[in-house]
Amino acid sequence: MSITIIVTQSNGAEEELNAQLDQTLLECAQTAGLDGFVGECGGNCACGTCHCYVEFAPQGALVDPTNEELQMLDFVAAPREENSRLACQIRITEDMHGMKITMPERQF
Ligand code: FES
Repeated sequence: MSITIIVTQSNGAEEELNAQLDQTLLECAQTAGLDGFVGECGGNCACGTCHCYVEFAPQGALVDPTNEELQMLDFVAAPREENSRLACQIRITEDMHGMKITMPERQF
């Protein structure tokens, strides 16, 4: 099954990401070469440079952020919003087909 996630860059450009099951959103985005996902710490929830906004997720698709993720979100460079998440902490599942992500203007 192909899982498509729509990623909107901060300049409004929209890209379709074909995500792979059991990878993280960060891994999928980096493999696809999408801009905006820096991931300086290599996906270890320790840098905040994979910050993204989840604009839409199918019901039940996303698990709540862990305390570790919530704490790291305090250190992201762009404004933290209610829908802020770290892409390295989102593991792709079938339910995520159609999810919509927006990238912040900056990661530093
Ligand atoms: S890659 Fe560093 S917090 Fe996600």
